[in-house]
Amino acid sequence: MVEDLRLDSLEGVGPVTTRKLSDAGVHNVMDLIVRGPVEIAEITGMEKDTTEKIVNKARQHLVEGGLIAKDFVSASEIYKHRQSIGRITTGTNCLDTLFDGGLETQALTEVYGEFGCGKTQFAHTMSVMVQKSKEEGGLEGSVLYIDTENTFRPERIVSIAQAHEMNPEKVLDNIIVARAYNSAHQTLILEEAGPIIEENNIKLIVADSAVGLFRSEYLGRGTLSTRQQKLNHFVHLLSRIAETYNCAAIATNQVMASPDVFFGDPTRPIGGNVVAHTSTYRIYFKKSGKKRIARMVDSPHHPEEEVIFALGEAGVIDPEEAEKKTKKTTKKATAKKTKKSEVETTVETPEVETTVETPEVETTVETPEVETRVETVMEIESDDFEPLEE
Ligand SMILES: Nc1ncnc2c1ncn2[C@@H]1O[C@H](COP(=O)(O)OP(=O)(O)OP(=O)(O)O)[C@@H](O)[C@H]1O
Ligand SMILES: [Mg+2]
Repeated sequence: MVEDLRLDSLEGVGPVTTRKLSDAGVHNVMDLIVRGPVEIAEITGMEKDTTEKIVNKARQHLVEGGLIAKDFVSASEIYKHRQSIGRITTGTNCLDTLFDGGLETQALTEVYGEFGCGKTQFAHTMSVMVQKSKEEGGLEGSVLYIDTENTFRPERIVSIAQAHEMNPEKVLDNIIVARAYNSAHQTLILEEAGPIIEENNIKLIVADSAVGLFRSEYLGRGTLSTRQQKLNHFVHLLSRIAETYNCAAIATNQVMASPDVFFGDPTRPIGGNVVAHTSTYRIYFKKSGKKRIARMVDSPHHPEEEVIFALGEAGVIDPEEAEKKTKKTTKKATAKKTKKSEVETTVETPEVETTVETPEVETTVETPEVETRVETVMEIESDDFEPLEE
């Protein structure tokens, strides 16, 4: 298959063109599709007419090889094709329900939320889960992890792998970490990623955070359009790579406080429209005491619903799992509390406070998941999440 993807396997692409393209970081036929004719003309100095012809040939070549879909297809063919889309389990029942089976390949999933809500934990967990066997809900694939905030922690990967009874060393070996130092570097990593994805059977690409560096480098209103344009390029590239190489892609996005919001949640995703319009799925993570709420926003086919999850040694976990642990540690404290005489000491135990604060904790144990979701829907107003107008 790698043979078929060589640039010179395209009719009319000789050694000179091949060199021009590879000098500009376009290494195979997939890269031609990912970058598109306009960009290729820009980076190689070739005429746009020529690059259009080359990219069209590349598309034809991949269609013939069955690697990408034809231009005109029947809905039933699309349906059939969608059946072949890979899904990666999240390792939890709650988030698998939200994702309708797991994180999809050929799609960009944006995860946004405030600091500490679990975006990085989720990215770490998925980096382990994608390596599971197909029977266990993985894709037996590797990971390209673009770390822009220096928050990738191999120790977390080890604990998550151990919790899932996987060999931590093997799991670490299958994660390629690219530390991005500035937004241009972050984009360059992705532009050059084609051969790495191909050679290492990458099935998940993480950009954590996709937006942070762009945000810190382009400050102020005056630079906003440049920032959005560059971010747009990055996010589109990520989305096209996911589609072309049949990988799943996760882009995390911080939220910032919007002082103009008087009702509901005063946080908005920073990438604004750019990330929102490019991502196939958008998930909003929100803290709720010790638990977390995940909400599916703007999906083309998922209902807008919410689930409760938790964070633990095993990464993202089902709330029941967290509860089991909390119960063990708080059993004694709760017993003491009922004696009244020692109320003060027990109130200081953080676990006890959480149990008191979040009524969902108790409901989750006894009632089925559906009911729990109905309850939490009321907590978040539906118009809290309008994209930032920029
Ligand atoms: N080993 C662990 N066991 C249990 N919980 C953990 C563990 N490590 C981290 N956490 C939880 O994860 C939270 C941090 O989550 P995470 O780093 O994913 O946030 P984030 O959404 O990426 O935030 P930011 O926007 O700052 O990057 C911590 O507050 C803690 O609750
Ligand atoms: Mg993070």
